[in-house]
Amino acid sequence: MPENPVYPISTYFFPLNQLPSVPMEHKALSERPKPATGQGDDHPAPMVIDGLLTLTEFCHDAGRIPDAPVSKGYFTMSNGCPLEDPLLTERIDKLEGKNRMASQLIQDLNVVDTISHVTRERIPERYVHAKGVGAFGTFEVTNKDFTVSDYTDAKFLNATGKKTRLFARFSTVAGERGYPDTVRDTKGLAFKLYTEEGNLDWAFLNPEIFLIRDPAKFPSLVHATKRDPASNLPDANMFWDYFNNHPEGYNALMRIFSDEGVWKHTLVRIKLVPDPPIDPDNDYFDLCCATTMAGKDPDWLTRRLYDEITSAQKDPKNKYPTWKVMAQLVKDPSMSPVNIFDATKILPEALFPWKEFGKITLTECPQNFFTQVEQAAFNPANVVPGWDISPDPLLQIRLFAYGDTQRYRLGVNNDQLPTNRPCSYVYSPTRRDGAYNMTNYANARNYIRSDDNKNPPDNYNASFLDWSGKLERFKSAVDSTDYQQCYDHYKSMTAKLQKNFVTNVATSLCTAQMTTQDKSIGIFNQINSDLADQIKKALKERIACNKKLAQKSLGVVAGAEQPHELSYVPPTAPDPLTGVVYDIFDKM
Ligand code: HEM
Repeated sequence: MPENPVYPISTYFFPLNQLPSVPMEHKALSERPKPATGQGDDHPAPMVIDGLLTLTEFCHDAGRIPDAPVSKGYFTMSNGCPLEDPLLTERIDKLEGKNRMASQLIQDLNVVDTISHVTRERIPERYVHAKGVGAFGTFEVTNKDFTVSDYTDAKFLNATGKKTRLFARFSTVAGERGYPDTVRDTKGLAFKLYTEEGNLDWAFLNPEIFLIRDPAKFPSLVHATKRDPASNLPDANMFWDYFNNHPEGYNALMRIFSDEGVWKHTLVRIKLVPDPPIDPDNDYFDLCCATTMAGKDPDWLTRRLYDEITSAQKDPKNKYPTWKVMAQLVKDPSMSPVNIFDATKILPEALFPWKEFGKITLTECPQNFFTQVEQAAFNPANVVPGWDISPDPLLQIRLFAYGDTQRYRLGVNNDQLPTNRPCSYVYSPTRRDGAYNMTNYANARNYIRSDDNKNPPDNYNASFLDWSGKLERFKSAVDSTDYQQCYDHYKSMTAKLQKNFVTNVATSLCTAQMTTQDKSIGIFNQINSDLADQIKKALKERIACNKKLAQKSLGVVAGAEQPHELSYVPPTAPDPLTGVVYDIFDKM
């Protein structure tokens, strides 16, 4: 064990407050992200970004890639061999009248090589969180409400004002890589912090709780929220039917449908709060705005992040996107009225107040989306000394899932890609070879001798948990406690958000089958009978209007009376009654 005891912060749960997260002031959609200049060595050095922001941090250029090669006015093969003209093809030609026929030659090295490269350009998209945008920035220790180093000896947290470079990626969950980013969905925000003791990855979600607590339900959850296997269409019936059968997800679902441990060790739940904070009545998109925006600018959130960063680089009056990093310190888990490892529940703020200990600022757009963002691989198993793994059942399976999908999606050496490469000392020469190995430890020994570990570090991770027990076959049960927090959250919404919540649910439920609608109303009834009545009424009105529309318009499904009526008729998405907001860009 280390000489100084480690008080690990657990990678327990990482809620993100909300997106969009910064004020909607900037209208300019014009400028492309500015390529940053690749800089020198791996040592801490002062850095100036456009003369506006000075940082002192470990490894200031982590994740950057070399500048693009400059054209000399001619092209080459990938091996550097100069080409007369890259658009020429070598072929056997035959002219018959006006018809020029050709047989392409395999000896045309340039065409064969570029075509065979372009046909391999696509890599598998992320299984979930496929649509995303990334940026670089810093984490800074503020210790505003408590001194974080009292709880951990992670070096990047050991001094007020200490900065750590990071890469951030915002995402939606269910949609594919090209899907609109203003759709109703869980939102993800992942960080890779390039600390002096290795890379630490954080993965946050908004809402701040999750839809399941049993890892075995994950494949069903994802299937039901993506596309129908037969029609390849999003399907409200499949969606609501899944949640009606696993209603522990309603607590998170109610947030999505709104417009918005005591051991010696302290467990910590972390969230990010936008700075300045969100105004719930004015900053969120309602259903009509979000649907219109999804058509007018499906990449609106992506563009907005780039815009905010570039406009702050140009003019100090504009603020870089900034979040406060807050923690709930769980010194005594027995104080909690809910299972603290149930990801479908929040921890009451009155018992565990949120306290600020850091700040995140995003300052730099990517130089190349594919290399730095699409190939970014976040993994909750990437921890540093002082940051331990908690016994959260979802986290435990995620320790396997992320690395597994990344070995499939990016290959076994994805840790050598620019965004994923640690800046700190890495020495692990038994991890050798594999596809696309860039470094491979040259002639270093590829086995470990008994006398090799001469200089053990003084700061390393050793699990704080002491396990012994019997193997259990477990699946959680749903009871009335699963509905208690749902109504508390509804009551905390503003009147406008409450009203929109009812509309949002009715709009989504109205294309589901009647039996599914009834079951959902039954669950809302257990949450609160008045709320259930409001949803029932809104649903009835919506179905009646849609029925009239369905008589006149093709493609409108009004909500099937009988299950078989829906069959594989595609439900209308978006709902035909959703209004178009013509002045959407003026509104911002
Ligand atoms: C059983 C539960 C879960 C499983 C099996 C799971 C699995 C996955 C997988 C396979 C990916 C794609 C990774 C990649 O291709 O690089 C992913 C992405 C992500 N997950 Fe989870 N996840 C679970 C729960 C959670 C929870 C509870 C959170 C947050 C509290 C979370 C946050 C994220 C985020 C933010 C990303 C996007 C990372 C990126 O931007 O590349 N996930 N998850």
